Amino acid sequence: MNKALRKAVIAGNWKMNMTPSQAKALIEEMKPLVKDADCDVVLCVPYVDVFAAMEAAEGSNIKIGVENCHWAESGAFTGEISSVMLKEIGVPYVIIGHSERRQYFGETDVTVQKRVRAALDNGLKVILCVGEYLEQREQGITSEVVRMQTKIALGGVSEAELENIIIAYEPVWAIGTGKTATAEQANEVNAEIRKCVGELYGKTAADKLTVQYGGSMNAKNADELLAQEDVDGGLIGGASLKAADFSVIVKAASK
Ligand code: 13P
Repeated sequence: MNKALRKAVIAGNWKMNMTPSQAKALIEEMKPLVKDADCDVVLCVPYVDVFAAMEAAEGSNIKIGVENCHWAESGAFTGEISSVMLKEIGVPYVIIGHSERRQYFGETDVTVQKRVRAALDNGLKVILCVGEYLEQREQGITSEVVRMQTKIALGGVSEAELENIIIAYEPVWAIGTGKTATAEQANEVNAEIRKCVGELYGKTAADKLTVQYGGSMNAKNADELLAQEDVDGGLIGGASLKAADFSVIVKAASK
């Protein structure tokens, strides 16, 4: 089974939640619950929480990431953080292209591509998000949408660099809505993304790519979603803010 070729990755996306002291407390609570995980465990946190989170996670199997980074090394980009800055403080993961960035902050496929480039150039591992709106699914163009997002974001990325990319399929209609894609829907689109990557880089590279599902994944539905052949992990929003729920998902990915 090709699934065995891939490391499962469960990543939390805290979004705009948790102060540094709350971050520390939550990670302390999570550490013993996820210590035996047979998957990678990542928590992507707000920038201001990074130091508290890294300190709390030190010596554990929890890795820390952030939720975005800019494409320039430095410059007149008020309010932004560069991948050079993240590299210097030793943050290993960054989410790029989350639908909330696309929806509320003017992120486009082209700016996603630029951010991916900068992150890879600075040795960060990228969790690249793609996914369709409900209207697009209803129009039957989910595959076209995720293929285009994937292809543009990976423009200029080499096969060797693909090892530092995780793709998260997050249908926008399933995010924070409690409406999860069915396991079949998640698997179908994840497989389509892998097929698209295979067309770009060949089957061997595509078979090694971790493709997560994200969108209302929780302690109850994780087992079924993660059992799918092409679902290699999850990008978890709301349930990553609760230690018990998050650890159930980590355990489901460790089976
Ligand atoms: P929820 O798990 O809260 O639906 O969020 C998913 C998500 O957007 C993760 O990036």
